[in-house]
Amino acid sequence: MKAYEVCDTKGLDGLALNKDRAEPTPGHGQIVVRIRAAALNYRDQGVIKGAYGYTKFPVIPLSDGAGEVAAIGPGVTQFKVGDRVASTFFQGWTGGRIPANASKNSLGGMVDGVLAEYALLNDIGAIKIPDHLSFEEAATLPCAALTAWNAIVTTGQIKAGETIAILGTGGVACFGLQFAKIHGAFVFHTSSSDEKLARARSMGADVAVNYRTTPDWDQEILKQTGGDGVDHVLEVGGAGTLEKSMNAVRQGGSIYVIGALAGPGSINPRMINRKSIRLQGIHVGSRDMFADMNRAIALHKLRPAIDQVFGFDDAKGAYTRQQSGAHFGKIVIAV
Ligand SMILES: NC(=O)c1ccc[n+]([C@@H]2O[C@H](COP(=O)([O-])OP(=O)(O)OC[C@H]3O[C@@H](n4cnc5c(N)ncnc54)[C@H](OP(=O)(O)O)[C@@H]3O)[C@@H](O)[C@H]2O)c1
Repeated sequence: MKAYEVCDTKGLDGLALNKDRAEPTPGHGQIVVRIRAAALNYRDQGVIKGAYGYTKFPVIPLSDGAGEVAAIGPGVTQFKVGDRVASTFFQGWTGGRIPANASKNSLGGMVDGVLAEYALLNDIGAIKIPDHLSFEEAATLPCAALTAWNAIVTTGQIKAGETIAILGTGGVACFGLQFAKIHGAFVFHTSSSDEKLARARSMGADVAVNYRTTPDWDQEILKQTGGDGVDHVLEVGGAGTLEKSMNAVRQGGSIYVIGALAGPGSINPRMINRKSIRLQGIHVGSRDMFADMNRAIALHKLRPAIDQVFGFDDAKGAYTRQQSGAHFGKIVIAV
């Protein structure tokens, strides 16, 4: 089969197409999926640069894929050949508390991922996808969507009438916007681009703030909430934006600490106790959360925001598009 392999830590130069890799065969409790589409996450840029200590080389990259079950191993009862499924980011977190070794079982890092014609998954590492979604759309769900769902819904328990600040218009953020709106929340959305903010408005964002032209976006949110601040912040910027997020959140509000897009910065821990802020780390989510999310996506007929779909032979173009930061929502590779 054809499969991309990350061979070293030289970035895109270390990503190679192997046209003659052996097709996987399923062992006990495993399935093989004919991958039809895969989606990029910010993490995948780190994998090709060796940013994670747990990567094995060579590894088939990307955690997020969708396709049809092509073969099932002994002991598999929940899938049959032909089922439309997506991968789960962690191959071993079905429910409850996140296991200590979860990252070691994450696809496209320590375990071969999905940027290939066939992928070997645990049966507990795959899930049926909503009928109304194409494979390209379903491939966007395993990491970005589930992270946003875990933060806002499972952990954050967002309620109608509450307010949330969502930073940027990448994959996690666009799903955050959609999930916040179906729960009836009021969304403050920030971006570096007015054009992207217009798209966020068309998806339901209530207030759009350009963090380039309004660098004190936290003050703007405070002004627009009568000085109170928002109930929730979907924090993808990390240290570089956390202090502003702590300014923008209300007393006793919640910040979901997800990403590190904004580089270094400083944090004053006094504000955390003075404002009784809940700083909640989020690490993707479990398969049970994925099932809950899929039910909501199916009920509301949600469609992921897809920036662009690249051909399999142009996978490096997809990585380059993400590196540019010009994208809105998810970048997909058709397989
Ligand atoms: N903890 C977890 O489980 C988990 C899961 C998924 C992702 N993540 C992390 O979450 C972050 C987002 O991931 P992603 O896959 O959604 O990335 P992505 O799709 O590549 O999104 C990048 C977007 O983030 C926005 N951004 C960049 N710098 C920013 C800043 N200083 N302030 C606000 N927004 C900024 C930009 O949007 P605009 O152009 O609109 O400004 C940019 O296009 C990454 O750090 C990733 O590693 C963590």
